[in-house]
Amino acid sequence: MDILSDQYRDSSRLDARFRLHRDFSTSQKTFPRWVFDKFDFMATTSILDIGCGPGYLWVENRERIHPEWKIVLIDRSFGILVEAHKSLQDIELKVRCLKSDAQALPLDGRIFDVVVANHMLYHVEDRPGVLAEISRVMKTEGRLYAATNGRAHLREIRELIERFQLESSIWTHHNAFSLENGEQQLSGSFERVSCVRFDDSLEVTEVEPIMNYIQSGLPSEELAANAKELQGIREFLGRQINEEGVIRIHKETGMFIAEKPLPG
Ligand SMILES: C[S@@+](CC[C@H](N)C(=O)[O-])C[C@H]1O[C@@H](n2cnc3c(N)ncnc32)[C@H](O)[C@@H]1O
Repeated sequence: MDILSDQYRDSSRLDARFRLHRDFSTSQKTFPRWVFDKFDFMATTSILDIGCGPGYLWVENRERIHPEWKIVLIDRSFGILVEAHKSLQDIELKVRCLKSDAQALPLDGRIFDVVVANHMLYHVEDRPGVLAEISRVMKTEGRLYAATNGRAHLREIRELIERFQLESSIWTHHNAFSLENGEQQLSGSFERVSCVRFDDSLEVTEVEPIMNYIQSGLPSEELAANAKELQGIREFLGRQINEEGVIRIHKETGMFIAEKPLPG
């Protein structure tokens, strides 16, 4: 199984990461709520969310979803898509869930006002191909919202993993589409591109949520082999919390808003 399929077989790994942010962020607003605030939607909006994951964006904003919206969720992981469908089935609106690779969308025509591609463009091998697919299904006045991270995102956790010589898959692809280079990549496919940053950080007061985060980036079969390193990290974090009461972690995340797809 490749790294991506292993990571996203189901939502357990994503959930561990989501919980760290939800429980220890200094911002009063969660990232999915902030993303939704940035949306400029009309009552009749048709929306495509590619690489939707377990649907955190829609679950966290469920009361803000207009009943007239048509929402299509796409993910290439069947396990994750089933969870998104389950979490959203009580919402009275038409959400269609499709298992598909973003590199070949099973959709015809310019039908979407909005496409969302949050924290997924760094995973795709053929990014220009995915952007061409997005443009193909987007209305001429359409918008793409694409959230991603900056290079320094969670650098304290990253440095800890490196210091203990673990190989995490969390950051494997992240530099491929980041806050630093995303605008340049999108401007080849859209008339206007802007970037908004989310002001946030983590203040963590417990060891295990960070351990769960770190373990979510290791293949399950390697957890036992890395038990000594993981215990070293656990003790290091425990000492830091005992001495300082908190572990401060830098966050660097935000979203590109790309308007009007250029003719392909
Ligand atoms: C980090 S998660 C982001 C989930 C969600 N967009 C969010 O921001 O909470 C990345 C998701 O993209 C999906 N994904 C990765 N490559 C993909 C591709 N080529 N086509 C469709 N989905 C993909 C993964 O299965 C996973 O669910």
